[in-house]
Amino acid sequence: MEINQISYGELGSSAVLAGWHSALSADWDEARHDAPIALQQADDQPGRFSHDADRTWLWRGRGDRMTSSDARHIPVLGPEAVGLLAPRDGGVYVDGTFGAGGYTRLILQTPGSRVIAIDRDPTAIAGGAELVAEAGGRLTLVHDRFSNLADVCAGQGADKVDGVVMDIGVSSMQLDQAERGFSFRFDGPLDMRMGRDGPSAADVVARASETDLANIIYIFGEERYSRHVARAIVAARNEAPITTTKALADIVAKVVRAKPGEIHPATRTFQGLRIFVNEELDELHRALDAAERALKPGGRLAVVSFHSLEDRIVKTFLTARSKTGGGSRHLPELAQAAPSFTLLGKRPVVAGDAEVAANPRARSAKLRGAERTHAPAHPAGDLPGWPTLASVMRAGR
Ligand SMILES: C[S@@+](CC[C@H](N)C(=O)[O-])C[C@H]1O[C@@H](n2cnc3c(N)ncnc32)[C@H](O)[C@@H]1O
Repeated sequence: MEINQISYGELGSSAVLAGWHSALSADWDEARHDAPIALQQADDQPGRFSHDADRTWLWRGRGDRMTSSDARHIPVLGPEAVGLLAPRDGGVYVDGTFGAGGYTRLILQTPGSRVIAIDRDPTAIAGGAELVAEAGGRLTLVHDRFSNLADVCAGQGADKVDGVVMDIGVSSMQLDQAERGFSFRFDGPLDMRMGRDGPSAADVVARASETDLANIIYIFGEERYSRHVARAIVAARNEAPITTTKALADIVAKVVRAKPGEIHPATRTFQGLRIFVNEELDELHRALDAAERALKPGGRLAVVSFHSLEDRIVKTFLTARSKTGGGSRHLPELAQAAPSFTLLGKRPVVAGDAEVAANPRARSAKLRGAERTHAPAHPAGDLPGWPTLASVMRAGR
């Protein structure tokens, strides 16, 4: 395997992992092809997705563009999300959340498609080297945040793209590695940084004021006992620094009671800190604006979210951007901007019973999609006035 460029710099100056264009295209191994579960193959209509009566996307492809590594990762709602993009020969697509590359693999199944895949996690980018090599020049991996996707595309010579897909949130690989500090299921350093840069969860827990902690845990964790949790954290950190996932989970469990069968009492606090540390909701707001700028007319946006906070942002954005009319005849000067998107379906697509049975994480997944119109992008919206990482760390205790 040869890679023409791998380097990881500060985010903002994107690091790029691009395929060595010619040498490796012969590496496709048809015999080892494994279709991802939930995809059914049919040889009659190569290279397109279609919907069956049960709302299951069927990949109608020849199944000749993937290797055994396809089966390694089963992306949630992958066929549905990539199906919404309707990839085509010659199209350029952005996978804003490369992760283990499940969505990217599905896009690359369309011959002649090209993917610019982004992930803020350097481990995910490094893990994609093999796929870059297999893709024979059709895949470029970029270490960056998806909020920068418009600039990333321009930097790759693609000012306008045919599709943007995002599978928001944390990956199972990140959750399952104790040393990444995302989960109280394992004891590890209280880290939670997807990009391994900036303040960690331990830094926030050590530095944020009690009020800020309570707000973070309430807004991003939707924990109704947030004030109790914040008070307990402050009392504990006055005794000793809170540096591990287990230490924090134990502190929370003393003040948030859970009945048998309910989620772990620390679940919401961990979620709140993780979203805050990674500025996940701000990232999503900015990424939607960036996708609107980067997509060409007819280009498609597909977003899978796992949480109501995220889904609300996607839904609100797409509703606002797809609204027609509405200009008041009394206030004609306030006439609305022309819709920049047309919704693809009124309701979100959710996982079917089989996918949920195979992968419980799919239960909360929602997919929304829209197609870009010819109208200019709307002005980017203001971010909500919630606490920001910079302001909380600056203010301190
Ligand atoms: C749910 S996983 C994606 C899984 C992927 N669809 C697959 O099939 O393997 C989410 C990924 O998005 C990345 N991510 C989350 N927020 C990001 C952001 N703001 N910018 C870039 N990558 C981000 C995470 O590091 C993680 O690898």
